[in-house]
Amino acid sequence: MKQVTTVEELRQLVGGARRAGQSVALVPTMGYLHAGHCTLMQQAKKENGLVVASIFVNPLQFSAGEDFAVYPRDLERDAAAAAASGVDVLFTPSVEEMYPQGYENMKTLVTVSGVSEGLCGASRPGHFQGVATVVAKLFHLVQPDRAYFGQKDAQQVAVIRQMVMDLNWPVDIVAVPIVREADGLALSSRNVYLSQAERTAALVLSRALQKAQTLLQAGERRSASVEAAAKEELAQEALAAVEYVMLVDAASMQPVTEIKQPVVLALAVRIGKTRLIDNLLWEEC
Ligand code: PAJ
Repeated sequence: MKQVTTVEELRQLVGGARRAGQSVALVPTMGYLHAGHCTLMQQAKKENGLVVASIFVNPLQFSAGEDFAVYPRDLERDAAAAAASGVDVLFTPSVEEMYPQGYENMKTLVTVSGVSEGLCGASRPGHFQGVATVVAKLFHLVQPDRAYFGQKDAQQVAVIRQMVMDLNWPVDIVAVPIVREADGLALSSRNVYLSQAERTAALVLSRALQKAQTLLQAGERRSASVEAAAKEELAQEALAAVEYVMLVDAASMQPVTEIKQPVVLALAVRIGKTRLIDNLLWEEC
């Protein structure tokens, strides 16, 4: 694996692989890698010649008061995990390399309306604009044939798919199922913020999704009933403060009242100071 920090080196390595006829994959991350990230990288390796992964804690997608400054970082451990997962090129730029004029001075920002506005977009203004902008920059730098994203961030997948469709980008967006701990907790770099008691309390998210899934499997198709089942479970946990529980169309992220098309039951819950998200994709209908 080659680790590079500059756009110039990245372009050279990707250009060389392309001239050699290799297909190119991109796995964008913010680092502090866990088995969820590694699954994306392993799948990318199976399906492509050259796998580029990026580690960049993108200041543009954090609002003031969010955890940009304290976001967990461990580049040495991440490099080892990426190499073991089949990454060929690890791109770890500085903020200055990605935003030479300063991210506050970016004049070109990618806004994906509609799909970005509800759910996490409602409570994190500017977040998806920051995500879409940095992913657009990475797509230009790497020009991947395929890019890999986790279904854990279902709205992020929908935003990127909408952007790629609207801008005729010749890149396949591959969504990888959520990787969980054995007890059900969805892996997240932010799980390190949880105390032991909070870690136990956080299991209520996957339990709430399981309750909803049981109802769906039994044939329930009214969104309100499915949402109510999840809310009822979340209400049992004293440490959980619910931000949203919403059944939405998987592509548009707009609320649905009756379940006919692929949908996502999306949750955002604060456990203490830590904001966790999780979701259930339901498409066998
Ligand atoms: P980050 O939170 O580091 O996540 C990188 C990728 O890993 C995302 O596509 C995310 O959905 C995926 N991922 C995280 N946890 C996962 C899990 N438990 N199972 C499966 N996939 C999981 O998402 C971002 O970074 C950033 O917004 C980024 C796209 C890199 C843009 O800055």
